[in-house]
Amino acid sequence: MEIRSLLQYHQAYKNSVEDPEKFWGDLSKGFLWHQEPSKILDWDFKKPEVHWFSDGQLNITENCLDRHLIDKADQTAIIWEPNDPGEAAQHISYQQLFDRVCRFANVLKRHGLGKGDRICIYMPMVPELAIAVLACARIGAVHSVVFAGFSSTALADRINDAQCKMLITADGSFRGSKTIDLKGIADEALKRCSSVQHVVVFQRTKQDVSMEPGRDLWWHHEIEQVDSHCPAEVMNAEDLLFILYTSGSTGKPKGMVHTCGGYMVYTTFTFKTVFQYQPGDLYWCTADIGWITGHSYIVYGPLAAGATTLMFEGVPSYPDMGRFWEVVEKHQVNIFYTAPTAIRALQKADLSFVNKYDLSSLKTLGTVGEPINEEAWNWYNQNIGKDNCPIVDTWWQTETGGIMISPIAGVTPLKPTYATLPLPGVRLVLMDESGSVIEDNDVEGRLCIGFPWPSMARTIYGNHTRYRETYFSAYEGYYFTGDGCKRDQDGYYRITGRVDDVIIVSGHNLGTAEIESVIDEHEKVIETAVVGFPHDIKGNAIYAYAITREMVENEDQLRSEILSLVSETIGPIAKPDKIQFVPGLPKTRSGKIMRRILRKIASHEYEDLGDISTLLDPSIVEEIKKGVL
Ligand code: WT7
Repeated sequence: MEIRSLLQYHQAYKNSVEDPEKFWGDLSKGFLWHQEPSKILDWDFKKPEVHWFSDGQLNITENCLDRHLIDKADQTAIIWEPNDPGEAAQHISYQQLFDRVCRFANVLKRHGLGKGDRICIYMPMVPELAIAVLACARIGAVHSVVFAGFSSTALADRINDAQCKMLITADGSFRGSKTIDLKGIADEALKRCSSVQHVVVFQRTKQDVSMEPGRDLWWHHEIEQVDSHCPAEVMNAEDLLFILYTSGSTGKPKGMVHTCGGYMVYTTFTFKTVFQYQPGDLYWCTADIGWITGHSYIVYGPLAAGATTLMFEGVPSYPDMGRFWEVVEKHQVNIFYTAPTAIRALQKADLSFVNKYDLSSLKTLGTVGEPINEEAWNWYNQNIGKDNCPIVDTWWQTETGGIMISPIAGVTPLKPTYATLPLPGVRLVLMDESGSVIEDNDVEGRLCIGFPWPSMARTIYGNHTRYRETYFSAYEGYYFTGDGCKRDQDGYYRITGRVDDVIIVSGHNLGTAEIESVIDEHEKVIETAVVGFPHDIKGNAIYAYAITREMVENEDQLRSEILSLVSETIGPIAKPDKIQFVPGLPKTRSGKIMRRILRKIASHEYEDLGDISTLLDPSIVEEIKKGVL
């Protein structure tokens, strides 16, 4: 089904709501199944339980690879652009990708891995990362990709939570001018991970690493031991495809579980629809495969759609602030999808970094990960799109698996800073704080979803109770997103930001509780409260208020100790921008920290702190204000 006009969009939306089973059932026919589904949807948000295509059988890699070999074997599936512009790019055809995935899948099998086993992947943005992901899916193993910027502690926690049997990593990774010792970090993590039997190490940087005999295996040796014939494991539509961790309101990250059938149908449909991908287009999503954006819109969606997808190993600022635009010109990118934080950083650089390059191949631009401010939207539109490319502002979450609210490129009339309208099948509801549905337009509320969609996360790995409590208990019968949202007079949606204890920093989802519990581990700290405050590039930055055991003699020293602790325990992305040492925190009589007050102080908005008389010790607010950074 193609949506090429606003009329078709409205018709499709109407159909999807009136008869969801027919709508998604029809769409599922565009895929290769071992057994076509006869049951389309069973659901109950009270339990909550959702099954899509539950008697269907398939393997997602046959949809991403095998079926394209008939007419696209020589078409490029992945273009890989390395960190260093001096190194040659790779063009990998569908045939080559198929062969390499099957070969690596045989490596996994040879070491005893199979359906249902969890495999952790901790790799740089090299083609082998995509190959490892697809190889897991080929044999029915469940991949858990951990972003290669996470620390050894964060890696170990994720490996242990899913009880992974294998870790796939690399010797090191190149990021801009830095080299990161991935294998060293992995070795540190593995001291705590008894479930891991083997580690496959891809050689990227060729730096010295220690290899533990019997446990550690070189990727390049392993693939020599096997051939490239590997029939796909037949999976049930509701079998696990992957686990991906995201932050939540407690210290422990949530392993969101995605399943095979619905995820495939939804990511493929939304990829084609939102970006209006046409055969021959080159599509580039700048995300890392370590995040959901990379899973859904670098690997699975584009490959299932038979597209050519570009993978970039580097960073936007290396060797200079023109790198993105250099890559666009070099490869003649048609569709470009990035994060507002990257746009804001590039906007600060001289325009000559943009104007040096010919960007005329671009026809569609996209953003994801956080609200885009009007200034960044306009800059992107004028300087990159030359006022001639629709910008799709795509709202979604790790939990939703695919894009939920977005313009359809060239179809939906745009309004800067608005994600605009829900995609077909997405039933948005705004709630007021008392839990009543807000019906009208020109209103603001909490964003909920009233009906299942095929790519929604089915549970939190090993903790269905937490899944229910986090997403389905705030408003009974609805999935609660955690976001605030406006609906304007035209029925267009604009996300206003998180209303819970998650902070989106540079498009990364960080839980305040996770950072607090790390800082609390410092021997000099008694208690911490972490909030977000506005930052002109990162969107939000982190402000930590810490109560110390005694007067701090050397504040800078303690700050740097705390920063290293956060960096080592979670990763550099979670480092607070500001740390204020305080004598106490504003708490209610029941002991709840009033973060609203702390957020205002951190943003230097002292008027209208609201009613502070209910605080246990209202005078603490003045004390905190005095020391604000
Ligand atoms: C949170 C989800 C979706 C992949 C990347 C982030 C925020 C995401 C937008 C957007 C405003 C956005 C929301 C959401 N967010 N996209 N277009 N406009 N806010 O995935 O790490 O799971 O974070 O990112 O707050 O809840 P994630």
